[in-house]
Amino acid sequence: MQPNAVMLAVLLFGNLMLHYVSAQNAGFVKSPMSETKLTLDTFELYCDVIGNPTPEIQWWYAEINRADSFKQLWDGARKRRVSINTAYGNNGVSVLGITRLTLEDSGTYECRASNNPRRNDLRQNPAITWIRAQATISVLQKPKINASDQIILPSETKGPPVTLQCNLTNAHEGQQESFWMKNGVEIADSRNEQKNTEYIIKKPRSDDAGEYMCVYTFETAPNANATIEVKAAPEITGHKRSDNKNEGQSALLYCKSVGYPFPIWTWRKLDGSHYMVRVLFLCSI
Ligand SMILES: *[C@@H]1O[C@H](CO)[C@@H](O)[C@H](O)[C@H]1NC(C)=O
Ligand SMILES: *[C@@H]1O[C@H](CO)[C@@H](O)[C@H](O)[C@H]1NC(C)=O
Ligand SMILES: *[C@@H]1O[C@H](CO)[C@@H](O)[C@H](O)[C@H]1NC(C)=O
Repeated sequence: MQPNAVMLAVLLFGNLMLHYVSAQNAGFVKSPMSETKLTLDTFELYCDVIGNPTPEIQWWYAEINRADSFKQLWDGARKRRVSINTAYGNNGVSVLGITRLTLEDSGTYECRASNNPRRNDLRQNPAITWIRAQATISVLQKPKINASDQIILPSETKGPPVTLQCNLTNAHEGQQESFWMKNGVEIADSRNEQKNTEYIIKKPRSDDAGEYMCVYTFETAPNANATIEVKAAPEITGHKRSDNKNEGQSALLYCKSVGYPFPIWTWRKLDGSHYMVRVLFLCSI
């Protein structure tokens, strides 16, 4: 035999050995995590399983304190609110999603995985052929927040102060505090511990416009929030007046505006020519 052929034989044999040795029982890489959610929200549970051959994954559900009554979950169950997406590659990976949660969705969710060739044999005890990982999902009634209607700021600069209000009218126990956000950023010094909270814009200007949100925090439940839109007609606050360039060079002009909802820009070109080409751009909204 040529030395090359020997090499090849060793490689092939090695590979077969590797394949044989690496047959492996199913094991969890990532198992679903318990969570508390609010009605109408969505949750997702992840399950990632390793094994050789690639394990099969199933999802099962039991009501709280009814661990004896697990039922298998299917894609499209519960009036299509349940989705199950599973991909089989080196690992088996599955995502269970449930949308528009109701209080009845509370319970124990179980990821089951197996690559045992006898896993679907009814004479086998599934407790031995399948591995399981559980997560408890608690669904709480979403708190009700009575919030101010949207506000449109007057176009004159010295309008009267604007007050944004949120009242927590129906909530589970354990309210901690509330704070305000503008365009996704917490407003400094806006925290308090009352059920009714206000944010006052003392001298409203166009750049006070935006998406405001009051957020309530709870000891053992997710945050609850309400959004109030403060709108203002857009106003151009900055632009670059001119830029002199030679032919072939590029020029940069900019326009800046405030106002909410964010404006849609259009650029127009006014053409007037004498000895040199003079191009005038106007930005408008
Ligand atoms: C919510 O606010 C509206 C108007 O501000 C009021 O009429 C209504 O009674 C409030 N609801 C509750 C539950 O406080
Ligand atoms: C919040 O409650 C206060 C005090 O009861 C009331 O004056 C105000 O109108 C309420 N605001 C909203 C938006 O419901
Ligand atoms: C506001 O509430 C929604 C729905 O419950 C939630 O998905 C979101 O994360 C909350 N945002 C904040 C900043 O609390």
